[in-house]
Amino acid sequence: MSDLTNEDVYGLIDTAIDFKNGKKSEIGQDKFAMNLFFENSTRTKSSFQVAEMKLGMKEIAFEASTSSTTKGESLYDTVKTVESIGASVAVIRHPQDKYYEELINNNMNIHIINGGDGTGQHPSQSLLDLMTIYEHYGHFDGLKVGIIGDLSHSRVAHSNAEILTRLGAEVSFGGLDSWYTDEFQGIGSHMSVDELCQEMDVVMLLRVQHERLSSEENQNFSKEDYFNTYGMDMRRVEMMKPDAMIMHPAPVNRGVEIADDVVECNKSYIFPQMTNGVYMRMAMIEAVLEGAKIDSETNQERQA
Ligand code: CP
Repeated sequence: MSDLTNEDVYGLIDTAIDFKNGKKSEIGQDKFAMNLFFENSTRTKSSFQVAEMKLGMKEIAFEASTSSTTKGESLYDTVKTVESIGASVAVIRHPQDKYYEELINNNMNIHIINGGDGTGQHPSQSLLDLMTIYEHYGHFDGLKVGIIGDLSHSRVAHSNAEILTRLGAEVSFGGLDSWYTDEFQGIGSHMSVDELCQEMDVVMLLRVQHERLSSEENQNFSKEDYFNTYGMDMRRVEMMKPDAMIMHPAPVNRGVEIADDVVECNKSYIFPQMTNGVYMRMAMIEAVLEGAKIDSETNQERQA
């Protein structure tokens, strides 16, 4: 997200909205994509697959568990192989933070899209979140956004806190004090969940990432205590402003950070976020295939 200018971001949002409104593109015709997911995924992987198909691309199937990475092949050699067999785009999710640095510094002749790196960044999620907020409010300037949950392990929190602040939103945080680390302290204040629900225009919930917690942290974690202190239930939904939004990148842990009946309540945009994910990923793929020329007439008008 750091490499995208604000104009790039608005350009991608405009294009994604155009795709949602019926824009067609065959830019992927006769091209191949490979989705290299070394961590589990439902939404990101499948919506990149749908986006690729909608743009006319064909997918070369890849499963990390049956690939030659299990024989010790490095990520670099895997991606170089994918490039050599003729794929134009590799979408990669990998547990290592900034895994892409060794790839982009090595003159790879393939477009690499980050599907999530370790606890680093999740740009396609961030962009679809921005699209969803922009569709609702039409701007970011002055919006109050609260991000509640496992901040320190969340690539979504890292990406969104940074870009929303740059776009003019005021970002605050909630959840365990120990997750409110220096980098977030430098961005916004820490508030109780009740305060966040009363004051925010957007409340973003995050999953507690048990797979990234230490065994001691997992042993000390009580779902009931977490839900009572930080969880979004209908009592808290009723405290929110009339047009405020509830967002969550999903998968959700029902009964931990969100109550069952809140997941599809009238303030929840969780499933619309997933729908927008396909259109945003189409916009991202089109942009890289066009040579990352991300702009639009609407964007030029906005700058004017
Ligand atoms: N939001 C998200 O990244 O979901 P998946 O892990 O299912 O891709």
